[in-house]
Amino acid sequence: MKALIIGSGGQIGTELAKALRDKYGQENLITSDINENPIEPNFYTVDATDKKAVEKLIVQEQVDEIYLMAAILSAKAEQFPMRAWQINMNILFNLLELFKEGLFKKLFWPSSIAVFGPHTPKIQTPQYTVTDPNSVYGISKLAGERWVEYYFLKHGLDIRSLRYPGVISWKVQPGGGTTDYAIEMFHYALRGEKFVSYINRDEPLPMIYIDDAIKATLQLMDAPSKNLTVRSSYNLAGVSFTPGELAEAIRKYIPEFEVEYRPDFRQKIARSWPDSIDDSYARKDWNWQHEFDLDAIVKEMLTNLQSHFYQDYDLSIK
Ligand SMILES: NC(=O)c1ccc[n+]([C@@H]2O[C@H](COP(=O)([O-])OP(=O)(O)OC[C@H]3O[C@@H](n4cnc5c(N)ncnc54)[C@H](O)[C@@H]3O)[C@@H](O)[C@H]2O)c1
Repeated sequence: MKALIIGSGGQIGTELAKALRDKYGQENLITSDINENPIEPNFYTVDATDKKAVEKLIVQEQVDEIYLMAAILSAKAEQFPMRAWQINMNILFNLLELFKEGLFKKLFWPSSIAVFGPHTPKIQTPQYTVTDPNSVYGISKLAGERWVEYYFLKHGLDIRSLRYPGVISWKVQPGGGTTDYAIEMFHYALRGEKFVSYINRDEPLPMIYIDDAIKATLQLMDAPSKNLTVRSSYNLAGVSFTPGELAEAIRKYIPEFEVEYRPDFRQKIARSWPDSIDDSYARKDWNWQHEFDLDAIVKEMLTNLQSHFYQDYDLSIK
């Protein structure tokens, strides 16, 4: 089995690359991104909107499965709406068409909780419910979900998808999403600086630790096709918390940490998203179970960030 990640330099792609390298062996993982990465093995600099370049890479490397991680995320997409729409949709269509031509066997494409909107039930948001996103990013993800299901139904293509919640990780800076505040908070706490949150203190959002997000991705890709009852995109949950709750959880280890709340345009996006997610289809179809709760996330984030980036900070976590 040979895998290719498109958009491997981002927040999720970086960690997915490590997991796939462990799974398939270094020689069987090809990575690519629009940004160069001189230290990554088997890496190609490719603009995924360039269909010919993507086709050449797939044919040359004879890949079996593709993980399409390249996209413009929610906050950035609001700043460049037309560009974000074109990039997010074109990259997906290029892959769907190349898949239809038989160039590879399986595709993973991530959706997001951004497919939900202001009229969606907010608590334990079901798999099938109102989806009326009012962000450019959410509209592109919802359209993408409809298209991946269409290509499955019409052409039998084995495409698998998850609606990731906000992903929390420490290795790479996040790429411009609404839930990035949660990651920034840890950096400010370890630098001993006050954090100004662009999301309200009491706004709950669904989140997931990176290890759980990667585990879910690999588990879904490995699940027998006959078990999958959702061919658009599976709801996926880890934990839900507000900025106030996260700050409190960090203060258990860094008591002097201060946060001020000054919501901006991203608060409006956050308000339109669910507070929590019902992921019972994932739990039933492919035995999904998250591992990291809020305290476990806080401990992982603080210890890893401290030992890699803030060695001067005297942190004691048992
Ligand atoms: N991180 C999250 O919290 C989150 C939540 C829900 C869904 N998702 C989805 O997961 C996927 C990966 O997200 P991420 O957080 O790793 O994003 P990211 O912004 O950190 O990384 C995206 C990567 O894609 C690359 N890229 C952008 N345009 C490209 C192009 N034209 N050609 C090739 N590469 C290109 C970027 O250079 C970057 O390395 C995206 O589809 C995103 O919408 C992420």
